[in-house]
Amino acid sequence: MADVGQDIIRAKRILEEGGLVAIPTETVYGLAGNALNDQAVTNIFEAKNRPSFDPLIVHVANIFQAEQFVEDIPNEARKLAEAFWPGPLTLLLKKKDTISDLVTSGLDTVAIRVPAQTLTRNLLASLDFPLAAPSANPFGYVSPTKAAHVNEQLSDRLDYILDGGDCEVGLESTIVSFVSEQPKVLRLGGLSVEAIEQVIGSVEVTIHSSSSPAAPGMLKSHYAPRKPVILKKVFDQESKENIDEIGALMFNAYMDDIPVENQFLLSASGDLNVGARRLFLGLRTLDQNENIKVIVTDFVPNEGLGRAINDRIKRATAKS
Ligand code: TXA
Ligand code: MG
Repeated sequence: MADVGQDIIRAKRILEEGGLVAIPTETVYGLAGNALNDQAVTNIFEAKNRPSFDPLIVHVANIFQAEQFVEDIPNEARKLAEAFWPGPLTLLLKKKDTISDLVTSGLDTVAIRVPAQTLTRNLLASLDFPLAAPSANPFGYVSPTKAAHVNEQLSDRLDYILDGGDCEVGLESTIVSFVSEQPKVLRLGGLSVEAIEQVIGSVEVTIHSSSSPAAPGMLKSHYAPRKPVILKKVFDQESKENIDEIGALMFNAYMDDIPVENQFLLSASGDLNVGARRLFLGLRTLDQNENIKVIVTDFVPNEGLGRAINDRIKRATAKS
């Protein structure tokens, strides 16, 4: 097990020496290393078993630090940064050569964000380099929203886990690209499209569900538990055998017939923000329940963070 604690000085020292630290963010935990240290960056890819063609997000303390690593911040991108940083927004911008090709997998763009979690903000403010950090899970698996999740899967790959408690948003950041003329949402996440549109007007949402190079990590079967996950409409067509081996991840109401102890409600009151916060916990909990062989789930209302929840549900079911 990796050491877990709230010691920012220790985290800083490890990162300065090129080590890896799991950091809490408001979205999910990240597996962080010095973005300017090629060996640390290489170690991140290895620790996650992540293909080298899938670029990392760079975390900075503020927009001024971001400016050191991007060519230019277009007006609308700046408006979003002013409105939502620190927060669950990642901007995709043309990079300067102050960021190595290793971080961006050879692309001429960099994904950059200012996270909001207090410990990590303080840590970033104390460092004189940015942190490259993918979500702190093995490649393809569900992202961690608690320090314990990180320790379950990556403990031997890390020097320290900075424990910020449960992630408040619970879904990865929303990625908005300003690389071409029109802004585009490349990944739905913890900042709703509606909130973005209130600031810059309507945006195109181009979510990739393959190994498309525009968002290389958005593979179709991502964020997926090990057990098969199927949609309720598929389950409803099937003959109901071994009902005790079925688990259910539902929005606000239990399914009939399935044992309640095999079910996880995202939000009994039907709150999409609470549902977003609990989605990955729910998938993990059911994945780890030894009585369950198959997980049944269903879409939530497709608005606000519900769009991002539905995107993750789609990907979790894509493997099955
Ligand atoms: O909330 C988050 O964004 C979390 C926390 C830790 O900050 N990080 C996160 O990182 O979700 P990761 O590596 O799991 O997902 C980053 C996504 C991947 O799909 C990657 O392909 C995409 O961002 N990405 C990164 N740089 C890119 C680039 N230059 N062009 C296109 N996509 C990029
Ligand atoms: Mg990830």
